[in-house]
Amino acid sequence: MAVAPEQRFRSTGESHVSPLVEVDNLTKSFPAAGGATPVLRGISLEVPPGQFLAVVGPSGSGKSTLLYCMSALEAATTGRVRILGRDTGSLGRGAIAKLRRDHLGFVFQSYNLIPSLTARENVALPARLARREISAADVDRALAEVGLAERAGYRPSALSGGQQQRVAIARVLAVRPDLVFADEPTGALDTESGAQVLDLLAGVARAGEGRSVVMVTHDLEAAARADRVLVLRDGVIHRELIHPKADDVFAAVAGAS
Ligand SMILES: Nc1ncnc2c1ncn2[C@@H]1O[C@H](COP(=O)(O)OP(=O)(O)OP(=O)(O)O)[C@@H](O)[C@H]1O
Ligand SMILES: [Mg+2]
Repeated sequence: MAVAPEQRFRSTGESHVSPLVEVDNLTKSFPAAGGATPVLRGISLEVPPGQFLAVVGPSGSGKSTLLYCMSALEAATTGRVRILGRDTGSLGRGAIAKLRRDHLGFVFQSYNLIPSLTARENVALPARLARREISAADVDRALAEVGLAERAGYRPSALSGGQQQRVAIARVLAVRPDLVFADEPTGALDTESGAQVLDLLAGVARAGEGRSVVMVTHDLEAAARADRVLVLRDGVIHRELIHPKADDVFAAVAGAS
């Protein structure tokens, strides 16, 4: 589903597109000796369908924490996170696990593949764990989408880093999640492998199926591939850029350091 530019932002009451994620005045603190340390200090944002959103900012600014809160891997300290219209704060652990399993996909810098399983078995694993049917054709299609049809029988140790990350993305594609969360997905990759991974992530959001991608990255060129870039500083959104050029992202982050 294409999203009109005027519908990309926070809802003002006029938007007719329901956001996939709504974050309202989110704070997150971690307990520490001498009192709680605030990491996120009042974040509000929405992710509409069909958007590739990047989050950048200095190390320690709270990017990963925001991603984990937005994807219900971490609970908010205060404020609200709604995913697909459901208030995650009012869901029990089982319901959150089901929401994640059925609707969310994750890609991390460390590919998190099981070394003893082949690429094909790794891709099929989430569905198997969820006791959901996944056909061999679906698995092979996901591997073909990431250009690894010929390596479906290989174990991770026989694949390059870029290929392993593409298996991790195939694992996400195979379950067709509404939302993909990626934390530094290109962090361990060379430029060319990173570009392939970004193409795949951008493709998820741009397939016209209303699926969105939220990507945390240090790579400002990568961020410039997104539709929208949020610059975090000290746990708040410092800047928001729409379809920025790489130079705009560099300038905004320089201003956030
Ligand atoms: N589980 C935790 N317990 C205590 N403090 C934490 C925890 N997770 C994160 N923090 C702190 O929160 C702050 C933000 O961390 P976060 O990982 O979100 O930053 P980041 O922007 O992703 O940084 P980087 O770019 O280095 O990955 C840091 O000061 C970190 O030490
Ligand atoms: Mg991080």
